[in-house]
Amino acid sequence: MRIGFISDIHGNFTALEAVLADIKKQNVDQLICLGDVVSLGPEPLKVLNALREWKTVNIMGNHDLAILDPEKAAQYEITEHLIPDLYWGREKLSPEDFDFLRSFKNTHEVQFPNGVDILAFHGSPLSTTHLIQATTAPDVLDSYFADRTEYIFIGGHSHIQMHRRYGKKLILNSGSVGNAFVYAFSPGNPPNLLPWAEYAILEQEDNSLHVDMRRVYFDINALVERVKESNLPGAAWWLRQYQDQKK
Ligand SMILES: [Fe+2]
Repeated sequence: MRIGFISDIHGNFTALEAVLADIKKQNVDQLICLGDVVSLGPEPLKVLNALREWKTVNIMGNHDLAILDPEKAAQYEITEHLIPDLYWGREKLSPEDFDFLRSFKNTHEVQFPNGVDILAFHGSPLSTTHLIQATTAPDVLDSYFADRTEYIFIGGHSHIQMHRRYGKKLILNSGSVGNAFVYAFSPGNPPNLLPWAEYAILEQEDNSLHVDMRRVYFDINALVERVKESNLPGAAWWLRQYQDQKK
């Protein structure tokens, strides 16, 4: 059984298209989206339609909550200069699209045939804004996972791929499809982007478990054109990311 995990697409349909083309070749049985789907990037609607088409299991992210209720953006830890992008994104969405976003789940559990179970979430099982990194202290992890019995934990939110042991368990982050960060976000420092998309596949095959952290290159020139055509309030930041990028 093979399960794909995509996260933090952030309206970057160019990156999502490339990832979905790769996933098509990977024979996944199920695709789970770990949240932050439409805000920030130029093509929110195409992203939502792709998720519908692929019948992904959808987890709620902090940006999804913020686009549903932008007046509470600070509560969802959205930096103030990104708030105009939330309103820009809202104008692209229909009432059905908002209903679709509202249907996203906080967590999702799934089990491989051998009994190994997985818990999916955005930040942590308790909050979309909890940031789990390779350096997060074990006592903080204990507070996030105290009551959880699953063997594998997988989330997004940090925009950085991670494969970390936690006692007998695994904590994974599939990275970001549309907004892969060079370094972890810290308040006051706008992040810089890597010129590729990230996602993960987990597989149980007989008595083995595989974690595949994948990187997919996408058409940066096409994204730049789509950003230029979009009138996104945050367009200048997107364009700066790719000025000097080489794969
Ligand atoms: Fe995100």
